[in-house]
Amino acid sequence: MSSSVPFTIPSLAGEVADAVVKVLDSGWITTGPQTASFEQEFADYLGAAHVVSVASCTTALELCLRALDLPPGSAVLTPSLTFCGAINAILHAGHRPVLVDIDEDTLVPSPETVAAAAGRCKGPSGGRGGSSPHNDAPAAMIVQNQGGYPVDVPALAEAAGLDRTRIIEDAAHGPGAARGGKPVGSESYAACYSFYATKNMPIGEGGAVASSDQEFADRVRAMRLHGMSKDSWKRYLPGGSWRYDVKTVGLKANMTDVQAAIGRAQLAALPGWQERRAEIVAGYDEALRGLPGLVLPQRNLDGVQHAWHLYQVRVQDRDAISGELEAAGVATSVHFIPANQMTAYREILGADECARVPVTDRVGEELLSLPLYPGLTADGQDRVIAALTEALRTRG
Ligand SMILES: Cc1ncc(COP(=O)(O)O)c(C=O)c1O
Repeated sequence: MSSSVPFTIPSLAGEVADAVVKVLDSGWITTGPQTASFEQEFADYLGAAHVVSVASCTTALELCLRALDLPPGSAVLTPSLTFCGAINAILHAGHRPVLVDIDEDTLVPSPETVAAAAGRCKGPSGGRGGSSPHNDAPAAMIVQNQGGYPVDVPALAEAAGLDRTRIIEDAAHGPGAARGGKPVGSESYAACYSFYATKNMPIGEGGAVASSDQEFADRVRAMRLHGMSKDSWKRYLPGGSWRYDVKTVGLKANMTDVQAAIGRAQLAALPGWQERRAEIVAGYDEALRGLPGLVLPQRNLDGVQHAWHLYQVRVQDRDAISGELEAAGVATSVHFIPANQMTAYREILGADECARVPVTDRVGEELLSLPLYPGLTADGQDRVIAALTEALRTRG
C-alpha cells in the first residue's frame, strides 16, 4: 500500500527557519521586539484594535476570565462540544462551567440552547435566592467557532442576557472566518486564538487575545507575565529600570520572540493556505455530496466566511468507519468528545448537569473529522474520498 494520509501536517512558510535563526542570533529570545511586531501584524490581519500574544489559547481563555474579575464561583456558559482546555480554563479561573447544548446543523449553541442553559443557572425559582443549589444568572459565556464556523456573537449574548463585555470567544478555529464581512475577533471584547501545531496558522504552541478595549487588553498583558507592571524586555532596554510592581496576580503565559518570529512568517502565508483549504473543501463537497448515510458540514453560509479549520462529517457507526479508514491508510479525528462525557467533569459537575446536553451526546457519537490541511495532495484527498465511499457502500 502507498504511504498513509495523516490527519494533519503543519504548514510551514519557507521563511520560518531564517526567521528563527535571526532571533537566536539577536541576543533576545523571550518576549521582546518580535512579539510586539507579531501582535501588531496579527491585529492588522484581524482588523482588531489590540492583540496580546500568550502561551496558548487555553491560557488566553483563563487570562480573559481572570481579567473579567468575576465573583468566585460564577456560572460561565460553555458549549459541551468543545476542547477540554476551555472547560479547564473556567475551572482554573475559579468558576463553574454551565454546559450548553448545540444546534445539530451548525454544531454550535443556538440562541435557544443558550437561553435554556442560562435559565437553568437561575434555578427553578429564577434568579438569586431560589431553592436551586445554584441560583445565579450566568456571569459570562465562552462561545466557540467550531471547525471554523463563525458564531453569531450578538445573538448568543442576547440569549444569555449578557453584555458583550462578558463574552469570551474561543476563536482557536477562527482565523480566516468572518461574519457579515467582519473577521472573527475584529470587534470582540475578548477573542482567544490558538497557534497550536494543528491550527490554521501553526506556530507549534502559542495563543493570542484580541480585544476592542484598551484597558482589558492592558490587564491581560500584565497578567500574562505574573501581573508585573513592566515586562523584562522593557526593563532591560536602555533607560529601563529593574523596578516593577505586581498589581494583580497573573500567570506565566507569555509568548517568546522565537514563537513570534515563526508567527510573523506564518501569518504572511495564511491567506494562501486559506485558499487551499477552501479548494479541498470544494473537492470533498463535490465528491461526497449525496453519499447515503453521510451528513456533510452545514451549508447555511449566508454572509458567513467559514475558516475551514475542520471538515466534520456525520456518520452512523462512526467508530467502526474510523477504524476502516485507518486500515485503508487514512487517519481521521473527532472534534470533540463532549466535555460532559469526561470523567473529571462528570465528577465536578455531577451527572444531572452532564445529562443536559442530549443533542451534543447524540451528534457527538457521529462526528468524524477528515484530513484538511494545505499540504493535503490531490492523491491524498482521493484516497480519503475512496476509503470513505467504500466504508459507506458496504453499509448500504
Ligand atoms: C476549540 C479549541 N479551543 C481551545 C484549544 C486550546 O488551544 P491551545 O492548545 O492553544 O491551548 C483548542 C486546541 O485544540 C481548541 O480546538
